[in-house]
Amino acid sequence: MTICSAPGKVFLFGEHAVVYGKRAIACAIDLRTEVEVSRGGNGIHIHSAFKDDPDKNPYIKMAIKKVQQYVDIKNLSVRVSSTIPIASGLGSSAAVTVATIGALNEEFQVGLKKEEIALMAYQTEIEVQGAASPTDTFVSTMGGTVIVPDRKVLPPISCGIVVGHTGISKSTARMVARVRALKEKYPDVIGGIMDSIGCISVRGEDLIKKNDYRSIGELMNVNQGLLDALGITIPELSLQIHAARQHGAYGAKVTGAGGGGCMVAICDEKKCKEIATAIGRSYGDSFITRSTSEGLIIK
Ligand code: PMV
Repeated sequence: MTICSAPGKVFLFGEHAVVYGKRAIACAIDLRTEVEVSRGGNGIHIHSAFKDDPDKNPYIKMAIKKVQQYVDIKNLSVRVSSTIPIASGLGSSAAVTVATIGALNEEFQVGLKKEEIALMAYQTEIEVQGAASPTDTFVSTMGGTVIVPDRKVLPPISCGIVVGHTGISKSTARMVARVRALKEKYPDVIGGIMDSIGCISVRGEDLIKKNDYRSIGELMNVNQGLLDALGITIPELSLQIHAARQHGAYGAKVTGAGGGGCMVAICDEKKCKEIATAIGRSYGDSFITRSTSEGLIIK
């Protein structure tokens, strides 16, 4: 029997633009999905904490299929538990995929290295969703703060992180398709926005290395303006974002595809509580989290 866990994530910069090859920066956060695999029984059985969300089982099934390219897996029981809210832009699909592949890799001694697990998880997401960038699967495997498509791993950021959750479920595929349609209609205009978001991520790397959270926040706010221009923000997310800024966040923006899901604010650690309360009062729920260097781990 093997148990693996993998974290969720927030985007500091670059969602949507990363789909067009621009740079993005994401941090692993301390919400995790745990997958236990045990051999035996009769056939393959999945007991998922996501049982209310049949959408997750395809990721687990596809992950098993990918590993079956290397080893014969006939009788297996998979148990999943998770603290990552689903369909919210926090990387729950990537975490379950990474943890499943990681656990199978260990249990069946497949010998995949972390980079190979990240790649297999990315291919799994593509097959299930039709489209995805490697961001979520890479950060969930490696932990810390990652830069894609460069695949660099920086240490976790050490400031307060507050997440606002609207509770409005979103579809990444639908939001990506909407942005694509806008880009096809106005390639010159939207292309420029994608370039600007990419530039923010380029500047962001240096600021992260310097722990300059004030400037990172400032650029998160600029990034949010550009995401707004892409039409992915909804009023509920705007309320949360403005509440966070009014209560002293260095910066606040949508994390992930938008159209629902979550926003993220960074702040002085001492301000986390006040900002979390303000977000919760504005709309939905909020929680305080932190960045973690722990990616995929065997327990
Ligand atoms: O909402 P999430 O966590 O699925 O993130 C989507 C981010 C996009 O850039 C819009 C798409 C992607 O796969 O990177």
